[in-house]
Order: sequence, then structure tokens, then C-alpha cells
Amino acid sequence: MGIGDLQLAIRAALVPSERIAALVPDGARVLDLGCGNGLVTMAYARRAALVHGIDYDERKTALARTRLEGFKNVTIATGDINEALAKGVAGGFDTAVISDTLASIPFQQQEAILARLAVTLQKPGRIIIKIIDTRPRWKFWCALLIASAVYKLLGLSRSHEQCFFHRPAAWYADELVRLGFTVRITPMHRLALPHVVIEGRRGDKT
Ligand SMILES: C[S@@+](CC[C@H](N)C(=O)[O-])C[C@H]1O[C@@H](n2cnc3c(N)ncnc32)[C@H](O)[C@@H]1O
Repeated sequence: MGIGDLQLAIRAALVPSERIAALVPDGARVLDLGCGNGLVTMAYARRAALVHGIDYDERKTALARTRLEGFKNVTIATGDINEALAKGVAGGFDTAVISDTLASIPFQQQEAILARLAVTLQKPGRIIIKIIDTRPRWKFWCALLIASAVYKLLGLSRSHEQCFFHRPAAWYADELVRLGFTVRITPMHRLALPHVVIEGRRGDKT
């Protein structure tokens, strides 16, 4: 077992990837922003019509490609999300999955990403944002401790200047509402980690 497999196994134990993936509609055309080594991607790829994963960490995109090799509907690109969205991504995508990615991206860029997604996604559109919430405080600090070990001590993952940019779930909910989405917040706490999904829907009948 290599370091990548070990990292994946630990992340699989800590993150409710199946619950996040369950929010992706059958037949969706998905942009997976910061797909990493494909943990969440793997959990919904079979049901999606099309998946395009983007991540700037070459080591992780190589792992994701290996993991998702059998899926003809999946492509994985190595690159920066901001640049990809600014250039424009063709594919008629209607769903975005952003799992634990935004905390690696400076606040202003987060806003630009969400605004670009709002114009990029086809209707009915869905944005599924998984974050570590900033409350309760003690759980947030537990998560920060783990992230600091992974990013700063072991250097196993990349973020902007190896810093973190956390915002509360309510901020993302308000931002998605401002962009025209109907929002649902679902806490998915696991162990001492305050996982929360903010799901924005637009143009659905439900
Ligand atoms: C914590 S990992 C989450 C991976 C995966 N989404 C999951 O839930 O297992 C965050 C990922 O975001 C990627 N990332 C952060 N900022 C990025 C950016 N600006 N462009 C592309 N990828 C980025 C990192 O390389 C990392 O793989």
C-alpha cells in the first residue's frame, strides 16, 4: 500500500463520501471541483452521465485516473479551478460537486468560483458544497488539527500557500441564495468532525 492509498483509506474513514455522493442526481453532468484522488467522485460516477474532475495536484489526479479507469464517462484534468472556470468548461454541466475544496481557496476567489458556476451550470442546476463548518468550535479545532498535520506537517495535500480559508455554512447558504438557488443545509458530522453539506438547487420541480 502506497502513501496515496493510505491517505485515501484514512479520508474514506473520516469523510461521509457516500452521503455526499447520494445528492448527485442520476444522469447528472457533473463538474467535480478539487476532485482530489476521486474518493467522492468514485461514489457517484456510475450513476452520472458525465463527470469532469479538476484538481491542481498532479499526484492526486494520477490516483483519481487510476481509480476511475473503468469509467468511460469520467475525465480528470490537472489544473486550477479558477483558471478552468474563467476560460469556460464545455460539456453542458448541470451539477457541481465541491467537496472540501473551498477551504483551500482565498475568500475572494471562492466568491468568483460560485458566481462563475451560477452562469456555467445548465438548468435545472445543482451545487453541492461540502465543508468543515466553523461550529461547534471544538469540532472545528479538531478538524483544523488534522488538516494542519496533512497539509503543513506531512505536505500530503495542497492549498493556497498552505493556508486555510474557512467560512460558516450559513455564509455559503446565503451566497447560493443570492445567486438564485434554493438551499438546504445538511449536517453530516462524523466522529469529532463537523462535516456539513450546503446544497443549492435551481429550476427543479421539487
Ligand atoms: C481535501 S481535498 C478534497 C478532495 C475530494 N474532493 C474529496 O472530497 O475527497 C481538496 C482538494 O482540492 C484541491 N484544490 C484546492 N485548491 C484548488 C484549486 N485552486 N484548483 C484545483 N484544485 C484545488 C486540492 O489539490 C485537493 O486535492
